[in-house]
Amino acid sequence: MEAIKFLAEKTGIPVPEDSQNDRIIRLKKEILEINKETARFYHSILRSNEGTDALNYLLDRGLSGKTIGKFGLGYAPDSWDRLYNYLSKKGFSDYALSSAFVVKPGGNKKYYDVFRNRIIFPIIDLRGNVIAFGGRILKGDGPKYLNSGDTPVFKKSNNLFALNLAKSSKQPLFILSEGYMDVISMHQAGFDNAVATLGTALTSQQARLINSYRNEVALCYDSDEAGQKATAKAIKIFEETDIKVKVISIPGAKDPDEFIKKNGAVRFKLIVDGSAGSTDYALGKIAEKYDLETPHGKLGFVNDFCKYIAEISSPVERDIYITRVSEKLQIDRGAVNEQVINLVKKHENRKKYIEKQDIKMYTDNIPSKNRDPNRAKYIKYALAEDMLMSMLIRNQDFWKKISDIKPENFITDFNREIYRIMYERLSEGKAIDINYLGTVLNDEQMSHISYILAKNSAVNGDLTLMEENIKTIKEFDPLMNPKAILESSPEELLSKIQKKRK
Ligand code: GTP
Ligand code: MN
Repeated sequence: MEAIKFLAEKTGIPVPEDSQNDRIIRLKKEILEINKETARFYHSILRSNEGTDALNYLLDRGLSGKTIGKFGLGYAPDSWDRLYNYLSKKGFSDYALSSAFVVKPGGNKKYYDVFRNRIIFPIIDLRGNVIAFGGRILKGDGPKYLNSGDTPVFKKSNNLFALNLAKSSKQPLFILSEGYMDVISMHQAGFDNAVATLGTALTSQQARLINSYRNEVALCYDSDEAGQKATAKAIKIFEETDIKVKVISIPGAKDPDEFIKKNGAVRFKLIVDGSAGSTDYALGKIAEKYDLETPHGKLGFVNDFCKYIAEISSPVERDIYITRVSEKLQIDRGAVNEQVINLVKKHENRKKYIEKQDIKMYTDNIPSKNRDPNRAKYIKYALAEDMLMSMLIRNQDFWKKISDIKPENFITDFNREIYRIMYERLSEGKAIDINYLGTVLNDEQMSHISYILAKNSAVNGDLTLMEENIKTIKEFDPLMNPKAILESSPEELLSKIQKKRK
């Protein structure tokens, strides 16, 4: 940056506006080119003699040649440097290759292939670019799946497997699952609306991405405990959108892939069509905890039921469930209704009270507004920082988790200063309350605190959101910032990329 400016001034040649982006744009293009070549290379190996075992494995699992071609599946040979040598010969630099995450630097400045002896699942974006890879182990040791880390052209939290295909499906909803193989099986069976997350839990970005194509989703996760936990989490995340959620339970099989293989596509269609709405699903889970034949069990169920139903904001929807449950359990509808109404009122009062307190305390004379120039530019991160700080003030037991985020990790300057003060205090094992903050923060900072507390009053205790925010801040990628690219040497960029991957 400095060098370019200096030269520009010296020579009087203006720096074109977009020259700042040139380097990152060029790198991204090169990575996409590398990915395309990589996908072709692995696909051709799968189709060669060397790929016999891998191909047989896929055929044994029931995939047709057509499906293998449609998904561009491949095989990474059991070698340390086949891909590296192949792509180097084509003229790609070590820097670009390792930025694409297809090779990694080893000792002695030597690079080695990331994927070895693995089935390769290319991840393709909406424009048809290969943006990353998943690799399933064929045999031997190591993690079952290895996925590309984030690169300048790929963020796991922002993409979905097979969205490129599902987006043009005629089906009104998407089926969301967790496994590459599940999605491929479903597509082969005619469910061309299946997509999957990329080896991590569903993120809000992915929920919003889905929401930009469909307003209904059917969750089809594994039937084991982990899959059910992930289902509950995903339902929570979809609550932030206006997507309608259904849950597909898979009877007698561990995942949709196995179900389809055992029972066929027609049966699968039946369970997709018969899947329960998220409320029915949750109530079913509550009912499983109690013996509804006994008065004691009924009472326990009704108490949990009321708590759950009171969280639903639509009175009509609440009413439907209250009527249904009281009829089914043969108990007085009025009594159940009253219990729910009381809980709803309690929630509302508490929310209002907290909001009022926050606003009253510090908004009486709000000084100048927070004018951090960083804020508008990094608004997504600023909002995550706001929410984390507000959660921390309200729930200091969150500190254990939040302390992972150092003041240096904050992106906006204004918030970083406030957080630093909170961070130091909490690191000393002392508490931060509003009174304490009032003594150490200036008026402008304090008015920001009261603003974020009020704004987030309804969500301050939400652990899932807290984790989302931590993730958002951690995900901030200086490499996506063109200024940082221009200011760093290739070596520095490389080391940044490598650090991020550790
Ligand atoms: P199969 O076992 O071949 O049927 O694969 P699957 O697609 O059904 O995968 P599974 O249900 O075991 O896991 C679901 C998804 O989680 C996978 O598709 C991967 O994206 C991811 N995953 C599974 N194992 C690992 C792992 O060891 N590491 C990482 N990073 N991701 C994994
Ligand atoms: Mn599976």
